[in-house]
Amino acid sequence: MQLSPLQSRLAASLAASLFLLALYLLLFSPNVALAAELPVDSYELGDAPHEIGIVLQGAASYEPEFDLFDRSIIGRAPPGVATLENNKPKALNLQPGTTACYMVEKSTIFGNDGSGNARKVEGKKDGSSTGGASSRFSDKVSKTLYLSANACLQPHFAGSNDTKSSPPQLILSISNSTEDGCQKPSNDPKDAGVTLFEEGAAMYSLNATGDIYVGITAPNVSSDFQGVYNFEVAASLTGYFHWYQKGDAAELLWMDSDSTSALLVTRNLTENEADIRRIMDQEPPYELFVSKKDSAATNGLKHSACGLQHTAQITANNLSNSQLNSPVRTGMTLRGPGSFPKQQFYFVSLNASSSYTGTLVKKSNVTAHEKREVGDFGLGSVVFEATEFQTVSATNCKVVTDLEFCNEIQYAVPGNDKKFNSTALAKAYDDYAKNMYANFETVMMQIPCEASRTSLYSLARNCDDCKAAYKKWLCTVSIPRCEDFASSNQFALTRNAGQAFPNGTQLPDDVRNPLVALPYSNASRNTFIDSEIQPGPYKEVLPCEDICYEVVQSCPAKIGFNCPRPHLMSFAYSYGQRDTNGSTVSCNYPGEARTPMSAARNLLPDLILLSGVSTAAAMMLG
Ligand SMILES: *[C@@H]1O[C@H](CO)[C@@H](O)[C@H](O)[C@H]1NC(C)=O
Ligand SMILES: *[C@@H]1O[C@H](CO)[C@@H](O)[C@H](O)[C@H]1NC(C)=O
Ligand SMILES: *[C@@H]1O[C@H](CO)[C@@H](O)[C@H](O)[C@H]1NC(C)=O
Ligand SMILES: *[C@@H]1O[C@H](CO)[C@@H](O)[C@H](O)[C@H]1NC(C)=O
Ligand SMILES: *[C@@H]1O[C@H](CO)[C@@H](O)[C@H](O)[C@H]1NC(C)=O
Ligand SMILES: *[C@@H]1O[C@H](CO)[C@@H](O)[C@H](O)[C@H]1NC(C)=O
Ligand SMILES: *[C@@H]1O[C@H](CO)[C@@H](O)[C@H](O)[C@H]1NC(C)=O
Ligand SMILES: *[C@@H]1O[C@H](CO)[C@@H](O)[C@H](O)[C@H]1NC(C)=O
Ligand SMILES: *[C@@H]1O[C@H](CO)[C@@H](O)[C@H](O)[C@H]1NC(C)=O
Ligand SMILES: *[C@@H]1O[C@H](CO)[C@@H](O)[C@H](O)[C@H]1NC(C)=O
Ligand SMILES: *[C@@H]1O[C@H](CO)[C@@H](O)[C@H](O)[C@H]1NC(C)=O
Ligand SMILES: *[C@@H]1O[C@H](CO)[C@@H](O)[C@H](O)[C@H]1NC(C)=O
Repeated sequence: MQLSPLQSRLAASLAASLFLLALYLLLFSPNVALAAELPVDSYELGDAPHEIGIVLQGAASYEPEFDLFDRSIIGRAPPGVATLENNKPKALNLQPGTTACYMVEKSTIFGNDGSGNARKVEGKKDGSSTGGASSRFSDKVSKTLYLSANACLQPHFAGSNDTKSSPPQLILSISNSTEDGCQKPSNDPKDAGVTLFEEGAAMYSLNATGDIYVGITAPNVSSDFQGVYNFEVAASLTGYFHWYQKGDAAELLWMDSDSTSALLVTRNLTENEADIRRIMDQEPPYELFVSKKDSAATNGLKHSACGLQHTAQITANNLSNSQLNSPVRTGMTLRGPGSFPKQQFYFVSLNASSSYTGTLVKKSNVTAHEKREVGDFGLGSVVFEATEFQTVSATNCKVVTDLEFCNEIQYAVPGNDKKFNSTALAKAYDDYAKNMYANFETVMMQIPCEASRTSLYSLARNCDDCKAAYKKWLCTVSIPRCEDFASSNQFALTRNAGQAFPNGTQLPDDVRNPLVALPYSNASRNTFIDSEIQPGPYKEVLPCEDICYEVVQSCPAKIGFNCPRPHLMSFAYSYGQRDTNGSTVSCNYPGEARTPMSAARNLLPDLILLSGVSTAAAMMLG
């Protein structure tokens, strides 16, 4: 049903006007305002919004006579209905069983902001525009309006039994009529325009031709729940102000973890060289909210930016960076393949053997408190798909990052708490690799790198390619990727089984004896690890074979570098092959995350190029 254009009814009787005034006062009376602003118990709301809005109690509503207010003169929504402006969120506490009502005015949608007078003046000036507002907006003109809301708080379970149940979700109802939108909003999600919040968030778009009414209804809850709902709602003409990612590949990647720390990194924030400087100079764009996987605190609010903010166990943002003893640090980094900007999250005091869920949020930079004028693009919040990560039990694998030379290494390596903290451990490995690289550079000096293209060893590759490939290979083989001795990863190879753990315990004889008899299980890849680090027994995820082939392809045959053939024994304990299921890490490739990446990648080498490679033994260091 099309709303008829509101008409001036200045001739309304005095009696009707007095009635309206009384009703107006009733709706805006302190009682109602108090009902809208109940203190929120037991939550530290920070700067959470408590803006005054209007709640229509239960079945209470305003009368149709409100149409007597000619909005072309008043320029406002009817009393009892707050207006929503483009990209300006509004927030409110809502008692269970009540509805809050908002209106997006036609003028907000179609860009005419003026009062009735202004419109008339404009109409006179502009000859082509005939008449006032009603003829200006043709019934056929429509514009897409995006409505979105987040639940910031919900009643908490106060029942006697242990069930970790969540209260029912809020309901968003959108209509072009006051009747359906606010007066008696439907709460049946099967009805048109009615959306049940999903994990604390709702998104709805429509092609608007006139005023739009937006109702948010808090359902009735059982007596097991106490407290109020709190939500934030916004209308936008450019896209959802509160947006959540559904079913796409995670934006946040879990690189690796040990018993207490975990490293998570976002995808490349840009792959445009010209944009790198600008992005690195900006504030990190994301916040991260982390909770134990089995924690019920965030249940029902997992898609809501403000909901996560109030309920998550750990928050990683600019503020947590400046807190002493903060369990997490975040910042921008260029580490990893491609050296593109990413935001990194490094957790340092997690519990061992635990599963966590991390949700990345691009925060809105407009809060419900702010009234300032803002642009209308990219202002809202985005809640990304959650990323799961785990910590392990053993303490002799340690996550290292921020290595100076091997700058793509960001994973757990064999470590020893008794000898090295994680910074010192990273440095020990990095220095070792750097020394080995010096030998290679001596060899490279024999190669005529400065020669003209045609006299170079290859037309496709040059010395820089060779150096880069060799460095990647060297770092990956000198700094093995470590997993718990108890790890069930079928692709991980036992190492150093004969040595005692850093705490002095040996493996039980029945486990140790068969392993000690195998040369590759009684030692590490490099003697440096067994003698200097002394990590005790661990498992190694072998480097991916393509790291080796890349060197063969990129470097001159003269340097004498070869890779073992896959069918040889030497291959089985030197390199790993990529597993197509991708459910576990089957081989180690620096910069590759544990979180499976959706884009299938083809890093396997062109086998024709390898046909000439001799079947030399594995190049092991040490
Ligand atoms: C109002 O909504 C009804 C039902 O969805 C629709 O048929 C009608 O065209 C709408 N009117 C306007 C002006 O959008
Ligand atoms: C809540 O319960 C009251 C009383 O039973 C009822 O009048 C009201 O419509 C209910 N509200 C909602 C949103 O279901
Ligand atoms: C716990 O309370 C909820 C809500 O009252 C109820 O539905 C559920 O059956 C109860 N569970 C047990 C184990 O008592
Ligand atoms: C709005 O209109 C556009 C173009 O006319 C159409 O593609 C789109 O599906 C419409 N959206 C809705 C929610 O009806
Ligand atoms: C970043 O870009 C590099 C180079 O294109 C690519 O290798 C890498 O996989 C990208 N990282 C992520 C996390 O997508
Ligand atoms: C974030 O932290 C940095 C350094 O501590 C500070 O310069 C910056 O102003 C902070 N930004 C915000 C938005 O608090
Ligand atoms: C670690 O476990 C303790 C005790 O169970 C708990 O209080 C603490 O919040 C946990 N910390 C993290 C970061 O999970
Ligand atoms: C808010 O975000 C927009 C777009 O990202 C940016 O242009 C604007 O400067 C930001 N405003 C503030 C106050 O940070
Ligand atoms: C020593 O460390 C190993 C591996 O972390 C562990 O399995 C073992 O229980 C520890 N022994 C003692 C006595 O703590
Ligand atoms: C790590 O150890 C080194 C030297 O062994 C020391 O200088 C440094 O302060 C330690 N770092 C931390 C964070 O304890
Ligand atoms: C296994 O390694 C330990 C030291 O880590 C060494 O003492 C022992 O002799 C080795 N055993 C064999 C059979 O090589
Ligand atoms: C790969 O998939 C197969 C069959 O789907 C399964 O048996 C195997 O365990 C999977 N491998 C891993 C490492 O999960």
